[in-house]
Amino acid sequence: MAVYDTKPYDLLHLPAAAGPDVDLRFLNFRLSVDTAGTADGARAVCVFVNDAIDKHCLESLASRGVELVALRCTGFNNVDLEAARDLGVAVTRVPVYSPNAVAEHAVALLLTLNRQVHRSFNRVREHNFSLQGLVGFDLNGRTAGIVGTGKIGRILARILRGFGMVVVAYDPYPDPAWAAREGITYVDPITLSSLSDVISLHVPLTAETHHIIRRETIDCMKPGVILVNVSRGGLIDTVALIEGLKSGRLGGVALDVYEEEEGVFFEDLSGTVLQDDLLARMLTFPNVLITAHQAFLTHEALNDIARITGTNLQSLLQGVPFVEGSLLT
Ligand code: NAI
Repeated sequence: MAVYDTKPYDLLHLPAAAGPDVDLRFLNFRLSVDTAGTADGARAVCVFVNDAIDKHCLESLASRGVELVALRCTGFNNVDLEAARDLGVAVTRVPVYSPNAVAEHAVALLLTLNRQVHRSFNRVREHNFSLQGLVGFDLNGRTAGIVGTGKIGRILARILRGFGMVVVAYDPYPDPAWAAREGITYVDPITLSSLSDVISLHVPLTAETHHIIRRETIDCMKPGVILVNVSRGGLIDTVALIEGLKSGRLGGVALDVYEEEEGVFFEDLSGTVLQDDLLARMLTFPNVLITAHQAFLTHEALNDIARITGTNLQSLLQGVPFVEGSLLT
């Protein structure tokens, strides 16, 4: 198996999970049509969120005998599934890996941003012990709006209920029994926007969810709202986000993902000039907190990812079904 976009943490669990009979070829660049030639001799490729597995890339992989594209993530918006189906290439993902890791990171971002811990950390290190400008608000009693009540959204909802927040949610496939049990109310998206002091996105990126946060939706939000996105960058129109920050409509924005993150996130660009003007602008706001797609990065999640990927690889070798829920084609 050729493993693309390998980072040091990928080496922690994957070799053991794949088993001794599997030859893993770790590559530190992304898979795309331009690099697909490096899959020569591999029966499977293992990819992550920013590899570009479009039709041409899949054609190139199929012509080299690749039978499986194993995503070591949940989202699959970067793979042309229809083309894979036509070419007979199996595509698997990791359907569940510690959703707690992602939900807990959303909470880490929310608390840090609201209580301005990122700013006080820097101040105190400079021996500036002033509290000027660091006022936050109690989460207790405030309203959180969860967009998408799947695995991650549900865990976040429960954590925020634990803080004493009122939680409202929107999902086109609601689960009223779950909501009743957890004391959560489903509302329509406009009501969610107008009620919430905190809005957190937990939906997959699809044609329907692309830019669900845009000028019109931001205009419906409560002034001063904190927006959290640990799902996919394409859910938010970044230009509209910057306008909302400049006008003050948005009180704070915490992001673990960004629509143009490919080639930037996961890389050490500290010695270079940042070419992305929108990202550079966002980094100038004191009330914007950005992490570089690290919500999944816990030992538990990495272990789950490696275990499911390794099992699917063994399933390919032994001709048995893939892990339940992981096959996309
Ligand atoms: P899930 O599939 O369990 O839940 C997604 C939910 O979104 C479903 O309940 C679905 O009905 C709902 N949904 C679909 N379209 C919607 C819409 N237009 N409005 C509101 N709800 C909608 O997915 P899960 O496991 O909770 O993951 C959510 C997303 O989190 C993933 O798709 C992935 O993009 C992202 N993610 C990010 C990670 C990171 O490291 N930053 C790690 C893992 C996942």
